[in-house]
Amino acid sequence: MQINGKEYRSVWYEDNRVFMINQNLLPFRFEIASFGSYEEVVVAIQNMTVRGAPAIGAAGAYAMALATATAPEDKYRSYLRQAHAALIAARPTAIDLNNGVSYVYENALKFIPDVVHSRQVAELASIEFANKSAEDCRRIGIIGQEVIPDGARILTHCNAGALATVDWGTALSAIRMAHRKGKKLFVYVSETRPRFQGSRLTAFELEQEGIEHTIIADSACGFYFWKDAIDLVITGADRVCLNGDIANKIGTYEKAVLAKEHKVPFYVAAPLSTFDFTCNHGTDIPIEIRSEDEIKMFGDTLIANPGSSALNPSFDITPAKYINGIITHRAIFKPKEAAQKIQSDLN
Ligand code: MRU
Repeated sequence: MQINGKEYRSVWYEDNRVFMINQNLLPFRFEIASFGSYEEVVVAIQNMTVRGAPAIGAAGAYAMALATATAPEDKYRSYLRQAHAALIAARPTAIDLNNGVSYVYENALKFIPDVVHSRQVAELASIEFANKSAEDCRRIGIIGQEVIPDGARILTHCNAGALATVDWGTALSAIRMAHRKGKKLFVYVSETRPRFQGSRLTAFELEQEGIEHTIIADSACGFYFWKDAIDLVITGADRVCLNGDIANKIGTYEKAVLAKEHKVPFYVAAPLSTFDFTCNHGTDIPIEIRSEDEIKMFGDTLIANPGSSALNPSFDITPAKYINGIITHRAIFKPKEAAQKIQSDLN
């Protein structure tokens, strides 16, 4: 992705350190954070310095490689086991994290007791995982732009952009490629309370790319459907199940229901790392519940009734029946067949 004219990835690995764009500071400050231990990356994933399903998948993969580099040789296997468990537990909903961490872990284990070889393989596996993820997202853009007509008014939710992935984005990759093809677009960006990934990050990326857009409150989406102002919805996903149900940022489900009511196509874009081939149904997906402070506080200021509690689920489930198609690196599939088609490619 281009930020202020320079090419970046959201997360990368160099000299036994994991580097990432600090997404908590954007769009007000652009800073790169870097970490030399897997424990620090666990914290960075939890506090959302890095966020977005494919991006935390790559951060986890790199952190696992880092764990192999820092593990004491006499406790190599148990140290890696501990790192694997801590990393995959950092955030529970996006399956990309488990997929990235486990891919590197399993590759590293194959070469024990040759620790030197195991470390080399782990580093290569983490780079391979991240590169594959970025390439999937580039292909999602090329394939996904086909569903975007010239002149489309598109609604997207949360940030499914280059920041949320290693590069390109998922939903925003399709929008980016359509724009680069010369299609005229207008994007409604729902703000995405409580952490404002839409109004902070998606708006920032669209501005960097020169794509016309406006921010709307989450609660304004229904009004714009009712006004017939939305032609298409595209979101990302944090997990795609075998039956085509998906998890994505809280508020996605209601947009999908609104889209069906208003006969507006609703697409989900997801790379291979977001598929969970062991998950049958949306009800099997663990939903992360974050701190009530994210709802009740704005920075250091209390913005809710002090004596009331608040519930803060970070994701919701959109059943397959509301989704017109899942845009993948291979093709656009009907939700019910997407996981099987992608899985059959792997065998
Ligand atoms: O809590 P976040 O910001 O990590 O949630 C991110 C989302 O829900 C994105 O829509 C999803 O990861 C898809 S990103 C390509």
